[in-house]
Amino acid sequence: MSEQKKFYITTPIYYPSDKLHIGHSYTTVACDALARFKRMQGYDVMFLTGTDEHGQKIEDKAASAGMQPKEYVDQIVATVKDLWKLLDVSYDRFIRTTDDYHMESCQKIFTKLYEQGDIYKGEYVGHYCKPCESFWTDSQLVDGKCPDCGREVYDAHEEAYFFRTGKYADRLLKLYEENPQFIQPESRKNEMIAFIKQGLQDTCVSRTSVKWGIPVPFDPKHTMYVWVDALSNYISALGYGNDTYHDYDKFWPADLHMVGKEILRFHTILWPAMLMALDLPLPKRVFGHGWLLMNGGKMSKSVGNVVDPVILCDRYGVDAIRYFLLREIPFGNDGMFTNEALINRINSDLANDLGNLLSRTVAMCEKYFGGTVAKSISSDPLDAELEQMINALPAKVAEDMDNLTIPQALTEIFAVVQRANKYIDETAPWALAKDPANEGRLSCVLYHLCEALRVCAILLNAYLPSTAPKMMEQLGLSADQLQLDQAAYGLQESYTVHKGDPLFPRIDVAKEIAHLKAEDEKRKAEAEAAQKAKEAKEAAAAKADQPAAVIEHEAEIDFDDFCKVEMRVAEIRACETIKESKKLLHLTVFDGERERCILSGIAKWYSPEDLIGKKVGIVANLAPRPMMKGKYVSEGMIVAADTADGGCTIAFYPDEAPAGSRIH
Ligand code: ME8
Ligand code: MG
Repeated sequence: MSEQKKFYITTPIYYPSDKLHIGHSYTTVACDALARFKRMQGYDVMFLTGTDEHGQKIEDKAASAGMQPKEYVDQIVATVKDLWKLLDVSYDRFIRTTDDYHMESCQKIFTKLYEQGDIYKGEYVGHYCKPCESFWTDSQLVDGKCPDCGREVYDAHEEAYFFRTGKYADRLLKLYEENPQFIQPESRKNEMIAFIKQGLQDTCVSRTSVKWGIPVPFDPKHTMYVWVDALSNYISALGYGNDTYHDYDKFWPADLHMVGKEILRFHTILWPAMLMALDLPLPKRVFGHGWLLMNGGKMSKSVGNVVDPVILCDRYGVDAIRYFLLREIPFGNDGMFTNEALINRINSDLANDLGNLLSRTVAMCEKYFGGTVAKSISSDPLDAELEQMINALPAKVAEDMDNLTIPQALTEIFAVVQRANKYIDETAPWALAKDPANEGRLSCVLYHLCEALRVCAILLNAYLPSTAPKMMEQLGLSADQLQLDQAAYGLQESYTVHKGDPLFPRIDVAKEIAHLKAEDEKRKAEAEAAQKAKEAKEAAAAKADQPAAVIEHEAEIDFDDFCKVEMRVAEIRACETIKESKKLLHLTVFDGERERCILSGIAKWYSPEDLIGKKVGIVANLAPRPMMKGKYVSEGMIVAADTADGGCTIAFYPDEAPAGSRIH
């Protein structure tokens, strides 16, 4: 018995903290092209996408919008679904991590892992970056800041549950070795291996400080911390651990998890380790693609340099955007998004090569034959070459799709388009048309061109799903004929073409760039004006009713505890900036007995000249702390006061208080 071939492909589930941007569209459109192609190949496809809706950041976002978290994500998710509709994304299922069935599955998974000892209770000590939703250890911080985005991190320590990722290190290494396809592209595999070999830590999987999350069922003051919740979506969406869906047996394991490179680690280490612990089959392949970059940096909601796909689609058309995303950047690498590159791609490939081939062919069929050309036999080597290219194309495209060299697949299709354009120049139909004796030859040439266009339309259907039917329509065929098993030369008996609109109007580059610049300036001016208005309004409101300052107090301590804090006057004998840090100054202070080193985060407000020779207050009995990856050991703290504008100011001691005097 032959089972139908199945293909299960997933995108990451995206955070609905803001509207999605062209970076998210990149992953989703790539998965869509793969899903469509597999369907054309006869696979039973499950294409899953969705949203990852829990976590502190979303809770904060909702609060600042004055909404409940669920209410907030509901409206963003609506825009996500609209976006996928706009981009012609043919997903089969959309999972939201706030859906009941998903939460039920997660709770079962968490409980099972806890009961069998793969999850245990411990204490989390580290640093947390809110925008990135990431925990970092001391050694991972760069200049005391988030190594990913460079922003402030917060100290975090609290009771937490941990998953024993470390226990699976050897099995993971073996998995990579035995399944060379598991992590792709190849270069990233080595990063993952190095990450494991440096010592794999257990993973924090719960928080007590985050309310907006799935409760840990046996200890509900904890919520599950993002990755267990998020990764489980790939099986809960199939019905693992719930009764809402019933396709787990059919579709699991996934054939491909497609993700951006920054989350490849979670998908190739934590996720397979979780599945090993659950004793479930592992995904066959995880691909970590590169980033779309803007102005040299990653396009990112938390950086704010995003490109809105809705605006792009409105202006250039959906398939033009899909084509650019799929064609421009070698799949796996990073690549720049620029308007110039987009416009050039549209003009050269879509308007010139593809659009012209269709409009010239259709126009010639109409002009020379009243629109109808029939199949004919030929023995011209030019024809044979084109026929061969057409017939070789489906296998080449299929191979590229299997290898995930998606841009290469498009290059192959466009090589046929270009060859067909050259064939027009070589056969010169307008010259043939001058002599009625050439009518047979002329018809044969036009039939070849129609066949090239038909087969290209079939293969393009996975990438350009609204353009391929339009091509068929102009060729006088129907969209139903976009079948992979018909992608071969000579299957169509005759054509009766219908001229239509150009597929992709040519864009005037200089005019378009000028237009975009003007739009950009308009947007900036509007944003500035809005910001000014907002500040003015806030200032007015602040004047109208100045509330008493809200001071957050520490818990009360008794006098003995206070006495334990040894503060002394110290003289600053030397002070230097630190090359690697904009924040820290390196101070050498005399505490009355000896010189000690203190690193202090005051470089923004004080330069060494302001400080050398001055006497300041220090906390003298603070345990020495290694900083800057152990390059320095800081022995104490300078006492400083916050200023109203978010800076700091230091009090200097007069001559009467020599270095070493106790401060009470
Ligand atoms: O990480 N270039 O969600 P997220 C290319 N919820 N791809 C980009 C991109 C860019 N500039 N920006 C985003 C999360 N992406 C988690 C995932 S999965 C179990 C949980 C794409 O909203 C890319 O696929 O931050 C990246 O991995 C994903 O969006 C991150 O989306
Ligand atoms: Mg992210």
